[in-house]
Amino acid sequence: MEVAAPARLAAGCIRRAPPQARWAGPIGGSGRSRCPARSYLRSRETVKTVVCYGPWVTEVETDRLVLRPWQSEDLAEFTRLLTDPVVTRYIVVHTPFSPQDVAELSDRTLEQWDRNGFGPWAAIEKATGRWVGRIGLDELADWPGPHKVEVGWELHRAFWGRGLATEGGRAGVRYGFETVGLERIISATMATNTASRRVMDKCGLRFQGELAMAGTTVAWYAIDRADWKAGQATAAAPPTGANLLGAGGPRSTTAFP
Ligand SMILES: CC(C)(COP(=O)(O)OP(=O)(O)OC[C@H]1O[C@@H](n2cnc3c(N)ncnc32)[C@H](O)[C@@H]1OP(=O)(O)O)[C@@H](O)C(=O)NCCC(=O)NCCS
Repeated sequence: MEVAAPARLAAGCIRRAPPQARWAGPIGGSGRSRCPARSYLRSRETVKTVVCYGPWVTEVETDRLVLRPWQSEDLAEFTRLLTDPVVTRYIVVHTPFSPQDVAELSDRTLEQWDRNGFGPWAAIEKATGRWVGRIGLDELADWPGPHKVEVGWELHRAFWGRGLATEGGRAGVRYGFETVGLERIISATMATNTASRRVMDKCGLRFQGELAMAGTTVAWYAIDRADWKAGQATAAAPPTGANLLGAGGPRSTTAFP
């Protein structure tokens, strides 16, 4: 459904999608006219009223990344990514992904977009147009808790260590709270995946505990909408400290000897 522009979205952070990228119904389908976020939330009976934003923004821009909805054309890069054993060191427990496994994962990613109107993005480096990885909101169907949408990241090795997972992950968290209307976002990884846990921290998620899952120990993190909003307000608050020109704000009362 095409509704009014989302006034609450941060200007410059999230850009309106081009018409062809807006929600237009199921992929290859008939153009269903309901807001996918509303149906997602209703189907889980977590909220009674959902504000629908729109036009349904699906593409997000950060300083260095364009985060766009997943496409079937992403399969080639995704296969290259998930058949790299260094990348999947903390993702697969025993058997590496086969190209067939990756194709199924890509299909499931597309299905999420179709079903929920959001899902993992393909991350593209703005400066070069290069395909960086998969970042963003991902519904974990098998997650044992009630809040099944995680923020996640898998990047080609060439892009590691530059803060890109954090940049994209933060955009995912913002998108989940401001656009989709989620109440809580989780993230889970093998407990030994220190880099990913650090990204969770830097995205504002807090450690919740460990679980035995799929033959390994999983550490999981979460952030609630209220805590995220409080963090945004603190970050946006004008500085109240003293300044060297002595204008405004509290002044130092230190007496010089
Ligand atoms: C995890 C991953 C997404 C991180 O991407 P990235 O763009 O390098 O992440 P960032 O640069 O935003 O942040 C990484 C942080 O982890 C830290 N880090 C990296 N490797 C680390 C390690 N082995 N031990 C401790 N900290 C580590 C970095 O120093 C950085 O923290 P800092 O900013 O405080 O210095 C990337 O390594 C990856 O794609 N890994 C393979 C896929 C994967 O495991 N995904 C997670 C599945 S749940």
